Amino acid sequence: MTNAYDEAYRRALEDPEGYWGDVAEDVRWIKKWDKVLDDSNKPFYRWFSGAEVNTCFNAVDRHVEEGRADQLALIYDSPVTGTVRKYTYRELLDEVSLFAGVLKANGVTKGDRVIVYMPMVPEAAIAMLACARIGAIHSVVFGGFAANELAVRIDDAKPKAIVSASCGIEIGRVIEYMPLLNGAIELASHKPDHCIILARPEAEAELTPGRDLDWAEAMQAAQPADCVPVLATDPLYILYTSGTTGEPKGVIRDNGGHLVALKWSMKNIYGVDPGDVYWAASDVGWVVGHSYIVYAPLFHGCTTILYEGKPVGTPDAGAFWRVISDHKVKVLFTAPTAFRAIKREDPDGTLMKDYDLSHFKYLFLAGERTDPDTLHWAEEKIRVPVIDHWWQTETGWSIAANCIGLHAFPVKPGSPTKAVPGWDVQILGPDCEPVKDDEIGAICIKLPLPPSSLPTLWNADDRFREAYLEEYPGYYKTADAGYRDDDGYLYIMARTDDIINVAGHRLSTGGMEEVLSNHQDVAECAVIGVADSLKGQLPLGFLVLKAGVKKDHAEIISDVVSMVREQIGPVAAFKTAAVVDRLPKTRSGKILRGTMQKIADNEDFKMPATIDDPVILDEIKGALEGIGYAGSRKS
Ligand code: COA
Ligand code: AMP
Repeated sequence: MTNAYDEAYRRALEDPEGYWGDVAEDVRWIKKWDKVLDDSNKPFYRWFSGAEVNTCFNAVDRHVEEGRADQLALIYDSPVTGTVRKYTYRELLDEVSLFAGVLKANGVTKGDRVIVYMPMVPEAAIAMLACARIGAIHSVVFGGFAANELAVRIDDAKPKAIVSASCGIEIGRVIEYMPLLNGAIELASHKPDHCIILARPEAEAELTPGRDLDWAEAMQAAQPADCVPVLATDPLYILYTSGTTGEPKGVIRDNGGHLVALKWSMKNIYGVDPGDVYWAASDVGWVVGHSYIVYAPLFHGCTTILYEGKPVGTPDAGAFWRVISDHKVKVLFTAPTAFRAIKREDPDGTLMKDYDLSHFKYLFLAGERTDPDTLHWAEEKIRVPVIDHWWQTETGWSIAANCIGLHAFPVKPGSPTKAVPGWDVQILGPDCEPVKDDEIGAICIKLPLPPSSLPTLWNADDRFREAYLEEYPGYYKTADAGYRDDDGYLYIMARTDDIINVAGHRLSTGGMEEVLSNHQDVAECAVIGVADSLKGQLPLGFLVLKAGVKKDHAEIISDVVSMVREQIGPVAAFKTAAVVDRLPKTRSGKILRGTMQKIADNEDFKMPATIDDPVILDEIKGALEGIGYAGSRKS
């Protein structure tokens, strides 16, 4: 017997234009499309070509017009500053229109880029929406990245303006942003005309005359700006994500497809209705924050929570329960690592008992695979469905999920359930043909991708083709490996590239290797991701020193740890490295990172047939044991 999910899945694949054309009726368009799916320039597909729309109007203005003016749009809850601030849709509209006026007054117009380098404050969301309002393209950079990473993004996006703040707040320390911002602008070849800086009481911002403006003063002087029509196919934002080198990829999101798919996802995937309170405990610097702190809940007329805190330590492992109870949250979306952190500090869930969780209906997890232990613990303690779902920065919304608004399937631990309507997921073998059920392969999506997925990379069509489309012709390569069982459930097991997942954050080991190899004493290096019970994975470095280097190894390791922190950022969580005489390689010179990772994680491994010198593996094992990692079994 078919259900609403089966019917939607079938129709979205058999008749994508009909399906998404119908779904798109839920959006307020300025001008309707000429074509729902424009495939005139394959493999670059465009959704809703010819249509005109404004994303900010659909997130804010329409709700004021349609009777939600006095409903809360956004609740800022910040245990690190002891603040709760609430915005109705009308108040949000006022703030966003004024800040759009600030941008306009400073020369930002349609198509210009604006970098937003901000902590988790409502002004970050206001800046994003203000850009959307005037057709400017925002690029939010996560606050945990260092000046160098920001500089790389400035040079790629070439922003006319940067919006930032005097500081961010981590547990027990204030992160001053101005030295990072100034450092990045100095490093970058492109210079923004203006920086608009939000002064926070925790740190003073020394403004650069002529370049910098104070947020509050600029707002006082501003005139509100109206929504500007943009093409559905125009970029709404660029979000940089780790690629296989130190060069991040600028994922583009368009206006129209994004609006249609994200609005649809709120009811059909998350089961929420307009007026419900929805909380994505992530950061606006990540795709989860873009899609589910800012855009989707607002498109759907929900109340969204912007939380400046952690699952533990702000002040304790009851923080999430406090927020759910205080604001009557219906759906919480976070990363499994957050639940592992809570479980570690409060294994019996004692702190939960202090709070009224009666409004809490579903927990959604993503960013990394939900391990069965965490799933069972969460299910048992919170007694609401716990739903793993799988997606990527590139897709902007989930590829696989238990779409509870359509049909709630039984949960299978370790699986994000089934492909979401619109996603033709295929597991391919090396011959580019689908493999059998239960067989591991490369997880690919048959083109065209559904609305909201990346149309291309910013100024890098060739890299887009090369990175995603070339290896499996006719498909988008997710770079995840996994399998499908005979009930159609997907299992996402590992990355096929050098990306590792640290506390739900996507990081490139190649990028870290580039930093390590810049150390004057390092001849060669490798970085792998090793299993970690809290963060899922942690990076671990191996250094081969140049001949004749006599320095203390601890000193060199401490240097490279600082270099990664300074050049990539604290979020890389790179804290451990070992000095070795040689790296294991194939006869053609390829470093055997996968084998090293298996040794570190104490997993079985096969001796690679092409290994140059098997003895090196014993040396690696010895080095790993020296820094507390167990050796592994050879077969
Ligand atoms: N600005 C500056 N520094 C930041 C930062 C930011 N926005 N975010 C993190 N950092 C720093 C942290 O302070 C930490 O620094 P440290 O090495 O001095 O301790 C480092 O970057 C690593 O951060 P993180 O990996 O987040 O580790 P943590 O120990 O601070 O917290 C968790 C661990 C699990 C509690 C935390 O990762 C978490 O809450 N995750 C929730 C899930 C999430 O946000 N996922 C994102 C995608 S959905
Ligand atoms: P990001 O682009 O930062 O969202 O990271 C995307 C990557 O994180 C994916 O390609 C996966 O490797 C991993 N990932 C995200 N969600 C899941 C999930 N639910 N299960 C398994 N892996 C996931």
